[in-house]
Amino acid sequence: MQTKPIVRVRLAHLPTPLEAMPRLSAALGGPELWIKRDDQTGLAGGGNKTRKLEYLLGAAQAEGAQTLITGGAPQSNHCRQTAAAAARTGLRCVLVLAGNPVEPTGNILLDRLLGAEIVWTGDANRDETMQRVFEREQAAGRKPYLIPYGGSSPVGAGAYAAAVEELAGQLVARNLPPFNRIIFASSSGGTHSGLAVGIRALNMPTQVLGISIDKPEVTLTDDIVLQLARQTARRLGHSLHFATVDIHADANYLGGGYGVMGQPEKEAIHLFARHEGILLDPVYTGRAAAGLIDLIRRGVIAANERILFWHTGGMPALFAPQYTAALMA
Ligand SMILES: Cc1ncc(COP(=O)(O)O)c(C=O)c1O
Repeated sequence: MQTKPIVRVRLAHLPTPLEAMPRLSAALGGPELWIKRDDQTGLAGGGNKTRKLEYLLGAAQAEGAQTLITGGAPQSNHCRQTAAAAARTGLRCVLVLAGNPVEPTGNILLDRLLGAEIVWTGDANRDETMQRVFEREQAAGRKPYLIPYGGSSPVGAGAYAAAVEELAGQLVARNLPPFNRIIFASSSGGTHSGLAVGIRALNMPTQVLGISIDKPEVTLTDDIVLQLARQTARRLGHSLHFATVDIHADANYLGGGYGVMGQPEKEAIHLFARHEGILLDPVYTGRAAAGLIDLIRRGVIAANERILFWHTGGMPALFAPQYTAALMA
């Protein structure tokens, strides 16, 4: 079925590279490992949100928005890329970050360089703070557009269905067979849902396996990704049916919780850096890669499989002092 057109603002450097990781494969004595470099999407440090923002900005512009408002954790990559997208398209940007002001390091420094206004929630509720900012912008005569956490709406997630078409084109052009699995970091579920829809729409024999960053498995699969995959498929005009069994996630790597970098993440960051010259991040891709490595070591992923690790970005967080110190320890 043909995908319904969505207005799109070109922001990303696409297609992102598809590369083999032979040295990491050999080090793990395991499957053929490949990587999709969405850390190289090109918008102020790159990452998975750039693809989503192309469509979200399209929707914002169609509504005549003047201010983008979004929110996240202090080191949010989504907020940094939203700030860059706003700068690129001449919009104001207000970021609602959880907690009290901290030193401008990592993504927070970049948010500031990109000209975003930062509103800290303090002890207040983040949704309520975003609503207050929304009303403040309206009162100032500016039309605000609210981008959901992680850009994970059916519009944003649709970008990852399109990303599967991009991948399929790369496989055909290089005469490569499909992967057995795609493994990546899953949190607000937009990347996960979009990939699941894209794989099903193209009938690829590939498992889409999200490593949960911060949620129990059933919360991620049933409450978030399943719902969003259905909405995204509908939004794109696909008559695809999704059931619980179609959505795959592994929540065995939550460690000390969101944003807490433990030994597994640290090892994964070092392995990717030292065998492939690829930088992961401490919160998302480090955890997803730790999951990948563990699944290989436990034999859940067989040595004869072909695996695609979808790099979703996040490198600036390495320069937040808590992570820099832990990585050097
Ligand atoms: C680097 C990185 N990887 C993965 C994710 C998770 O993507 P999603 O929110 O689409 O599940 C995020 C979300 O913030 C991210 O910043």
